[in-house]
Amino acid sequence: MENLIGDLDVLKPSETDACETFTVSKEQNTGNSRKLYIESYGCQMNFSDSEIVASILQKEGFDTTSDIHTADIVFLNTCSIREKAEQTVRGRLNFINALKKQKPEMLVGVLGCMAERLKSKLLEEEKIVDLVAGPDAYRDLPKLIFQVDEGDRAVNTILSREETYADISPVRLNSNGVTAFISIMRGCDNMCSFCVVPFTRGRERSRDPHSIVDEANDLFAKGYREVTLLGQNVDSYKWSAEENNKAWLEKQGITEVVTFANLLELVANVNPELRVRFSTSHPKDITDDVLHMMAKHDNICKYIHLPAQSGNSRILDMMNRGYTREWYLEKIARIKEILGDECGISSDMITGFCSETEEEHQETLSMMDLVQYDFAYMFYYSERPGTLAAKKYQDDIDLDTKKRRLDEIIIKQRKHSAFRNGQDVGKTQRILVEGYSKRSDEYLQGRTSANKVVVFPKAHYKLGDYVNVNIESCTGGTLIGKAVTAGA
Ligand code: SAH
Ligand code: SF4
Ligand code: F3S
Repeated sequence: MENLIGDLDVLKPSETDACETFTVSKEQNTGNSRKLYIESYGCQMNFSDSEIVASILQKEGFDTTSDIHTADIVFLNTCSIREKAEQTVRGRLNFINALKKQKPEMLVGVLGCMAERLKSKLLEEEKIVDLVAGPDAYRDLPKLIFQVDEGDRAVNTILSREETYADISPVRLNSNGVTAFISIMRGCDNMCSFCVVPFTRGRERSRDPHSIVDEANDLFAKGYREVTLLGQNVDSYKWSAEENNKAWLEKQGITEVVTFANLLELVANVNPELRVRFSTSHPKDITDDVLHMMAKHDNICKYIHLPAQSGNSRILDMMNRGYTREWYLEKIARIKEILGDECGISSDMITGFCSETEEEHQETLSMMDLVQYDFAYMFYYSERPGTLAAKKYQDDIDLDTKKRRLDEIIIKQRKHSAFRNGQDVGKTQRILVEGYSKRSDEYLQGRTSANKVVVFPKAHYKLGDYVNVNIESCTGGTLIGKAVTAGA
């Protein structure tokens, strides 16, 4: 997912664990006296949830701070996807423990997926934690904080079938003022055998499309120029007109069900100058309708994150992914047919899943050769307690083999990223400027429609501008060029 994308140049084999990255809340000053410091780990859903939490607590008299030492409340919004992600949080709690010794009144809370997975056990295991709240319990935070203020420790990890926080307007943390996330659904019903998400995030539910479009309109009016629609499996987004908003939907020409393709169009219609991205697509569910909708609207970015996980059909079956190698390759062919070779495609891959043979690993490598992804997040399998795989299969591939296979796919991916980036050299690409280059303030940075990072001399351009950039060279992860004219 997008904000975790690192520069492939700086990634070493075995070090691409996206969940190790985290983001801290920014300084906010609306005159509130109490300070909230929040760190987010894991995927964009968590980052987006932290913005909901900040919004709920702002109404309770808290401003966010980027300095943990000044905080009255410290929240860690956690991830459970791999064991390493949980270890990172445990390490962070040790550090916070030392702070709390100097400032005992500081409230420490664990939110998100680790809170949901461990529930009150977390209070037993981590003595400094005062509050535990799962992803569907954030409206309850004021009450939980009150409980802690009264001298108790507080837990709410009840999952909901309805909660989408649709009416809560997120406080944009870490915002560049140009790009923002909009959560369109929560939970996941897929039960991939390796995955903890269905247990930590609960059942899948879609958010009211009217509230999504309102949020996009509001962001555009505030100067934002790109929204990313977020869900664990966006292709299963569904909203029945009978459920709600019938009259509004009829005005938009939709009479029965809002599908993901419909939703894409509703958001694309907010303004042609608002770029629309989305994540994550599931290979078994992505439809031709979605691909055609992407082709129809220039402002829907030509980029699809389509996690394969493995290139071998037996492993995919054990993973309960619902597709085969052939089906996956067929989908890639459809994408190229409808959107052309220019469409960016990325993947997630897991090496060393239970019983994976050397030949099956080779099939992952050969599938990567066939697809030539622009980018990939790559992991070795980490068994998660309670998942189907943990119950049914033995985690029998030794760590050295898992890591060696991971290194092999990382090295292959590097070659493919370099090849795909090289294809852009000499072309002119329309870039949305998102910020300054990490290396120099004389350079601006943005992305192409296909999600490639482009760096170019700033000249008179500024954040939020569309600029046509002629690509002159590339490194493994970045395209480098010069502005031609202001983008049309
Ligand atoms: N909903 C998304 C993925 C969410 S998790 C999808 O279906 O693709 C992000 C990625 O973490 C997954 O795609 C997978 O590659 C990886 N992952 C999930 N569980 C894992 C585990 N137990 N071990 C290693 N990697 C895992
Ligand atoms: Fe996990 Fe699969 Fe759901 Fe993705 S689709 S969140 S991998 S269960
Ligand atoms: Fe992690 Fe939870 Fe996201 S487990 S990847 S933070 S949904």
